[in-house]
Amino acid sequence: MKKMYFLYIGLLCLGMWGCSNRKSVLDSTEIDSKVVKLVNQMTLDEKIGQMRQINALGGVPENLKAALQEGEIGSILNEVDVNTVNEIQKIALEESRLGIPLLIGRDVIHGFKTIFPIPLGLAATWNPEMVKEGARIAAQEAWSSGVNWTFAPMLDVSRDARWGRIAESFGEDPYLVSVMGAAMINGFQGDDLSSDGSIVACAKHFAGYGVAEGGRDYNTTLIPQRELRDVYLPPFKAAVDANVRTFMAGFNDIDGIPATANKFLFRQVLRKEWLFTGFVVSDWASPYELINHGIAANEKEAALQAISAGVNMEMTSTTYKQSIKLLLDEGLITMDMVNRAVQEILRVKFELGLFENPYVSKEKQNQFAKQEYLHSAKQAAVESIVLLKNEKSTLPLDKSIENIALIGPLANEMYEQLGTWIFDGDSSLTVTPYAALKDYLGESKVNYAAGLIASRTKTKEGFSKAIKMAEKSDVIIFCGGEESILSGEAHSRSTLNLPGAQEQLIKELQKTGKPLVLLVLAGRPLTIGEVSKSADAVLYAWHPGTMGGAALVDILFGEENPSAKLPVTFPKGVGQIPMYYNHKNSGRPFDPTGWVQMDDIPVKASQTSLGNTSHYIDAGFEPLYPFGYGLSYTQFEYSQLKLSKVKYSINDTLKVTFSLKNVGDYKGTEVTQLYVRDLVGNVTRPVKELKGFKRVELNVGEIKEVSFHIPVSHFSFHNKNMEEVVEPGGFTVWVGGDSNATLSEAFAVE
Ligand code: BGC
Repeated sequence: MKKMYFLYIGLLCLGMWGCSNRKSVLDSTEIDSKVVKLVNQMTLDEKIGQMRQINALGGVPENLKAALQEGEIGSILNEVDVNTVNEIQKIALEESRLGIPLLIGRDVIHGFKTIFPIPLGLAATWNPEMVKEGARIAAQEAWSSGVNWTFAPMLDVSRDARWGRIAESFGEDPYLVSVMGAAMINGFQGDDLSSDGSIVACAKHFAGYGVAEGGRDYNTTLIPQRELRDVYLPPFKAAVDANVRTFMAGFNDIDGIPATANKFLFRQVLRKEWLFTGFVVSDWASPYELINHGIAANEKEAALQAISAGVNMEMTSTTYKQSIKLLLDEGLITMDMVNRAVQEILRVKFELGLFENPYVSKEKQNQFAKQEYLHSAKQAAVESIVLLKNEKSTLPLDKSIENIALIGPLANEMYEQLGTWIFDGDSSLTVTPYAALKDYLGESKVNYAAGLIASRTKTKEGFSKAIKMAEKSDVIIFCGGEESILSGEAHSRSTLNLPGAQEQLIKELQKTGKPLVLLVLAGRPLTIGEVSKSADAVLYAWHPGTMGGAALVDILFGEENPSAKLPVTFPKGVGQIPMYYNHKNSGRPFDPTGWVQMDDIPVKASQTSLGNTSHYIDAGFEPLYPFGYGLSYTQFEYSQLKLSKVKYSINDTLKVTFSLKNVGDYKGTEVTQLYVRDLVGNVTRPVKELKGFKRVELNVGEIKEVSFHIPVSHFSFHNKNMEEVVEPGGFTVWVGGDSNATLSEAFAVE
């Protein structure tokens, strides 16, 4: 029998996910004693108040003032007027009996006024430092508006492009999501949560929300515990290691148990196994929705289940307010449960330094869109734009070009390039591709026509002007994709082509015979395989944020060299979904030599079960573009892969080196990726798993030796008995520029 190595992950701080050194004005024992003292003085109504979050009422109406004076509210979401925030904090502190400040929550997801690329675009940078910086800037802007808590990052591993919230995710891979999530948390919370410009982060949505059946938002999920622990939970564990102070419960049910009522998730995993000391907020009215889920008959039962599961604070619905007393009277919950829930909330308020420093002073208010913020947003956009195709080296374009046609419904839309979740985004700051192109080349050289009013427009009225513009130009740039509102919460799609008449317009433009470059702005992977055939080059820009246009123009003209890589697999068609690189091998892995395409199967062919492998007869097995894929204007060559040894023990670190050479004509940055396969497991294992990545910059002709140090403990998984183990046996390691990497070596764990 194989010897297995058990890992007590609760005690481990894994590699680059890191443990934060956040300090506070008060140390934690001081905070604990203050919290206990405060809770001892609280009436039951005041305790219930702390467990309640309401939506902003707009200003400070009398009913809000009275509720604050009575201590009936612990948190308000969506109030971003700093004077109002200061006023309500003052009432809470100075006019209520115990003077407890408020948490002011807001969805600050990828920027506040200065908008960065959507999280899926940020993930495409494979640059955690960039993500951290973006979150830091978002925190500073939001804090200057009175916000002290953001509902981000969203850590739902997302493998279904139909799901509109894939835009808000860091993609399909547990490791990439973990690293980016931790970076974002560090950016929001800073080194010291109590300092100006730091806000509390929230790891959401615990857990499995992105696995909604059919990609339809809010739908049921069915996730076996092993998959939950190996794929969907690791980013949340990394968030706890990064000292995230709050968690949010998902809307979804998992195998019949809604997340908001899920004791296993919150009591067992989060508190017992991971020793989380912050607090849990429900999602918007998710305790109340337990009635819709059909596991509670009324609000009292709903509150009972959410409190019992460990949800400390209820967002907007009022089941706690209405039922906690009754539940206590009937002995269904204990005062101890209520006290604990309140303590965990108060601890975060103390950590934020809110009791000492609750106001945003005049000179620190509304600090938005500073030059350095815009600069950073542009750099993030540059690093997020993926070059998918570049035939005949169409890009970069020649700066001395005389005439360029800029066509498309998203070429000059200040709002639409910002993406989902930009409640506070200032679209007047936006630099569109049209504005940036005019700025770069001079207005007279740019022939612009939208062609279609919006990305969904079906009428062809604008075609003729667009075609005229194209005909009199040397190169055509088509800027289309999806408007912001087509992705995000509740905006799932069942088809993933370019909406409206965009594909027809592109076909018409192709007929001019001019070089055609496609810029796609979207909140998700779109099925652009067919339409891309009409283009010579394709840049995938996601929703790139405020500075997206400037970033695109710099890339188009080679001022910047693309370095982004896909954080999700791009399927050829919707029918292939879910499709992800780290799938299982199956008993009949795809054999391309055995693929008889649908149209080649003879009519009346007889059925055979021999030689069948796992694929679609019409789409094969391969995606359109694999996870990790992205081109550069230069080329990189990988060679000389070496391992420090061939056999490792569980406590060892795998040391991998290889040589990376820039063999092309431009300076560039390559995102090198390291994948591992555990060849034989106690349960089936993925064909490849990302275990490391690094951005490496190289001048033309330059060679660098790149190294990775990966603790063997990172090769763990959950075995048949649901124990987390690293199993001895053979492994393969690959390095390369995407998940189809071929340069490999073997090693063993003993
Ligand atoms: C979303 C959350 C969000 C909350 C508050 C909900 O609908 O699912 O992610 O933080 O609203 O706006």
